[in-house]
Amino acid sequence: MDGGEQEGKLAGNVALVTGAGRGIGQAIALAFARAGADIAVHYRNSAVGAERTASDIRALGRHAETLQADIGVVAEGQRLVADTVERFGRLDILVNNAGTFDTTPLFRITEARFDAIMATDFKGPYFLAQAAARQMVAQESGVIINVASGVAKDADPGYFVGTPYAGAKAALWRASQRLAMELGPYGIRVNVIVPGFIHSKAGPLPEYVRSRFAPLAALKRTGVVEDVARVALFLASDDSRFITGQTLVVDGGIRMH
Ligand SMILES: NC(=O)c1ccc[n+]([C@@H]2O[C@H](COP(=O)([O-])OP(=O)(O)OC[C@H]3O[C@@H](n4cnc5c(N)ncnc54)[C@H](OP(=O)(O)O)[C@@H]3O)[C@@H](O)[C@H]2O)c1
Repeated sequence: MDGGEQEGKLAGNVALVTGAGRGIGQAIALAFARAGADIAVHYRNSAVGAERTASDIRALGRHAETLQADIGVVAEGQRLVADTVERFGRLDILVNNAGTFDTTPLFRITEARFDAIMATDFKGPYFLAQAAARQMVAQESGVIINVASGVAKDADPGYFVGTPYAGAKAALWRASQRLAMELGPYGIRVNVIVPGFIHSKAGPLPEYVRSRFAPLAALKRTGVVEDVARVALFLASDDSRFITGQTLVVDGGIRMH
């Protein structure tokens, strides 16, 4: 993403971006850094990717540190926020991007897998928001961006995802609106991004996904990580200072509300 027009929009801000070692989180971290933010680059397994993100950020002249945590474990999420504040001195923006995609059907899901998905996709982000909000309340401002999924809002007849994933993302989506109400009085905004079909994992989307869903989009393509990063930057910056409790669907016009 060209930083020119965005330069300085996040100057003086510290952002914690979860899952910033690859995919959408990596693009968000870099976009925020180009806009002037210092970044806590969180990862769980992608240590090499996280270090690459951090060194790209440092090359932009911004401060970056990598921090490891399993966000499905509440104590690790709390430590992640505490470490961010200790190393950077403040926390202005939390992007709850990390998540576990899952397609296990009803008759194959186990209790352990169900719990793991709920922990990563709902409980973890929720308690990260709690820990971050404690710091933001003290600072009397802050931004929380939760990354949900289209399946949080609609059932997709043509695309199968597992019910625990859909339920966890739906919980995160709905909880975000309640959090916006709870935290608004403290000057903290909470919004949701719903990505569509975004090329993000170790490579592009599978061809069957691309060929099936690109034609359904009004813009006739699937997405790239920068499509989501630009929206995250808008929601993190003062350009959206009077927007809270909202959902921005970034899917090229598959879902229209
Ligand atoms: N790509 C899409 O088309 C799409 C569509 C709808 C929603 N989304 C949502 O957008 C977000 C990012 O998607 P993506 O495609 O960039 O994902 P991705 O490439 O699959 O990456 C998932 C990220 O989540 C992190 N993560 C997973 N479980 C974790 C845990 N227990 N603790 C800490 N970190 C954990 C991973 O960290 P490590 O690699 O370091 O382990 C990784 O950075 C996710 O929340 C996803 O559900 C994506």
